[in-house]
Amino acid sequence: MTITPTQSLIFDPELIRRYDQPGPRYTSYPTAPHFREDFDERSLQGALDRSNTSGRPLSLYFHIPFCEHLCFYCACTKVVTRHHEWGTPYVAHLDREMALTRAHIDGNRPVDQLHFGGGTPTFLRRHDMTALLDSIRKHFLLLPDDRGEYGIEIDPRALEPGTLRLLRDFGFNRISIGVQDLDTAVQKAVHREQSFALTAGVIDEARQLGFRSVSLDLIYGLPLQTPESFARTLEAVLALRPDRLSVFNYAHLPERFPPQKRIPDADIPSPDTKLRILADSIATLQQAGYLYIGMDHFALPDDELAIAQREGSLYRNFQGYSTHAGTDLLAFGMSAIAMVGPTYSQNIKDLDTWGTTLESGHLPVERGLHLSDEDLLRRHIITRLICDFSLDFAALNRQFALDFRQHFAASLPALEAMASDGLLHMDDHTLTVTPQGRLLIRHICMAFDAYLAQKPVRYSRVI
Ligand SMILES: C[S@@+](CC[C@H](N)C(=O)[O-])C[C@H]1O[C@@H](n2cnc3c(N)ncnc32)[C@H](O)[C@@H]1O
Ligand code: SF4
Repeated sequence: MTITPTQSLIFDPELIRRYDQPGPRYTSYPTAPHFREDFDERSLQGALDRSNTSGRPLSLYFHIPFCEHLCFYCACTKVVTRHHEWGTPYVAHLDREMALTRAHIDGNRPVDQLHFGGGTPTFLRRHDMTALLDSIRKHFLLLPDDRGEYGIEIDPRALEPGTLRLLRDFGFNRISIGVQDLDTAVQKAVHREQSFALTAGVIDEARQLGFRSVSLDLIYGLPLQTPESFARTLEAVLALRPDRLSVFNYAHLPERFPPQKRIPDADIPSPDTKLRILADSIATLQQAGYLYIGMDHFALPDDELAIAQREGSLYRNFQGYSTHAGTDLLAFGMSAIAMVGPTYSQNIKDLDTWGTTLESGHLPVERGLHLSDEDLLRRHIITRLICDFSLDFAALNRQFALDFRQHFAASLPALEAMASDGLLHMDDHTLTVTPQGRLLIRHICMAFDAYLAQKPVRYSRVI
């Protein structure tokens, strides 16, 4: 198997210290804080109607916001409750949302990609989960023979017996499991106690059922973590040989996520300790044979993401990296974000208002954006940089009928400074991110972000 140079990574602490500034994660461009309130239900309906002419396959996202317990570090959009019965009206509202959307979508467009995220999708009781799956089947054309990329986020603490089988029978073939950290002191400090045995049991069952890809989430920078404790977590997790591993930097923004105030600043590892944890983790992962895909993600060389990256067909959207480009993303549930044609559309973030809007027969759009030609060009560049770690100027010039150097004259000084610092190489034909620059890819993308100067937004740090 050939591993292209871009799949190697060099950890350069000096460079990282110098470039460690807050920046977007670019699951979209323009990023969500730039969505506009004048994008409404009619705007989304128009985008859905127009999208049918392309006949593109569909990608479906379902946001299930409920969690039974609150993890103090959590930055996800969620509703913490012990009332599992809240799942029943939620699923009924999702059915309504699908019906209202399907009225504008050609039913012959196949669902290439499906993702359940949260919150905790497995918070739903079995009968509610069954009702949701039935209603997806009723409204949309699913791919037969396990051909789709159908994934679900699993919290092992909230998984009823039989649910994994139900999901597998429906066609789910990927799971992603939140682990975060296995150390008991860290788990107590973040209010998430989850034994190794519980996680290992879910992975075992998933593999026996034929799930193709198992992905685990870890977070470094959590309270009370030390390089030694995180190394033990990583060693235990690697024994489970996940196909993919996300190692997220803890985003500590207590003004934006008030439950994080329950994490005392003094318990958070210092920037130098975090850097050591990251350096050690990268070394351990590389020794274990994992490749760096980009933006916190690692994968085994034979995983589909790693293969797609080598073939230049990797893609990124709100759910992270994917092998399916060229779909329209329809999104259901409170706060969910759709990407249809040249638009983004975000749903109402309040649970009750989202539900009552649907009951009154309206799509619950809160805000969104029509992307301009300039936005589409910059989005393409940022996506290719994050997925390929390189840009081919001639291909860009052809595709967008422009002269790269002329069009991006304003970005060149920042790019040249990064080139002289060793983050990237640039000649007349290509921009290539170096193995040292790969961890700082967000920073390189920021040179192409036309919105950064427009409105101050608080982002988490790059590392
Ligand atoms: C939307 S959560 C869903 C997963 C599921 N609810 C669970 O916890 O098992 C997806 C992932 O985001 C990551 N995450 C949540 N809050 C974070 C934060 N403040 N900083 C970094 N990563 C975070 C966690 O690794 C988590 O597994
Ligand atoms: S990390 Fe997962 S389980 Fe914990 S509160 Fe956030 S969404 Fe819920």
